[in-house]
Amino acid sequence: MAIQWFPGHMNAARKKAAETMEITDLVIEVLDARLPGASSNPMVEELRLHRQRPCLKILNKSDLADPRVTDAWLDCFNGRSGVHAVAVSCRHPAEVARIPALCQKLVPHRTGPGKPARMMIMGIPNVGKSTLMNMLLKRRVAAVGDEPAVTKSQQRLYLDRRMVLTDTPGLLWPKIVYPDDGYMLAASHAVGVNALVEEEVAAFLGEILLNRYPDLVKARYKMPVDGLDGIALVEEIARKRGFKIRGGELDVEKGAHALLQDYRTGAIGRVSLETPDSRREMIGSFAES
Ligand code: G4P
Repeated sequence: MAIQWFPGHMNAARKKAAETMEITDLVIEVLDARLPGASSNPMVEELRLHRQRPCLKILNKSDLADPRVTDAWLDCFNGRSGVHAVAVSCRHPAEVARIPALCQKLVPHRTGPGKPARMMIMGIPNVGKSTLMNMLLKRRVAAVGDEPAVTKSQQRLYLDRRMVLTDTPGLLWPKIVYPDDGYMLAASHAVGVNALVEEEVAAFLGEILLNRYPDLVKARYKMPVDGLDGIALVEEIARKRGFKIRGGELDVEKGAHALLQDYRTGAIGRVSLETPDSRREMIGSFAES
């Protein structure tokens, strides 16, 4: 079952983002470092290129991602014109503290008095936009923008006298063109799915983990994993943990949930769901099909 999303929301978000882009000097796009391709929204590129705005791509949650894969993504993004990419973890405040200086460097023409660098943070749900914004501002701001239908007057949130963030909805819904993206986004909790689909998502995740990180899976669940596929892994987790439904049958739903939770919290270890190469391959085989 492919995971789909609502284009109606997307149109409202696009309109707001386009308006804000006009008064923005720098776009800060927050991505999930474990799935930088799937957590990108092509709308950001389209809107910022239209206005010729530079973009700082923040690969957030890098504490959860495979560091070697994150480096490959940084190389890939940093090769693009007008883009600067960095890996950050909001769990490490020192890394976030480096961001303002970086932003300043990207918009050198906006540093004078009365000319603060105007920045907009954009990204799909759950990539860490609010967390990052609160850390940059050193205070909690109400989560604005989670309701695109609500019109709010724009606030200007000053980091200091030289930098200002708009609180305009930077929330974008993921654009799910490729079925694999739907599964990656659901596994990472950027989109919600029901219990039935959650089992499919867990099986998809299990397959990736078995292919790329078999030793981490073996260590986490203290069991051999040779010859298992994604579904069998979920079943084995349920068996190992004694998850049963009435009648003694395996509770696969609970096994799926356990695997997803372990991935989301980092209990399995630092893993990435896609690499620049795997993404290219995935897009290529989708185009051929
Ligand atoms: P959003 O505005 O983009 O929707 O994301 P938000 O800041 O609400 O963050 C979503 C979840 O991701 C939160 O967890 C947040 O704590 C977590 N998070 C944000 N940045 C990082 C990071 O760099 N590393 C890790 N490991 N987690 C990060 P939550 O489960 O909703 O709540 P919490 O109990 O973790 O606070």
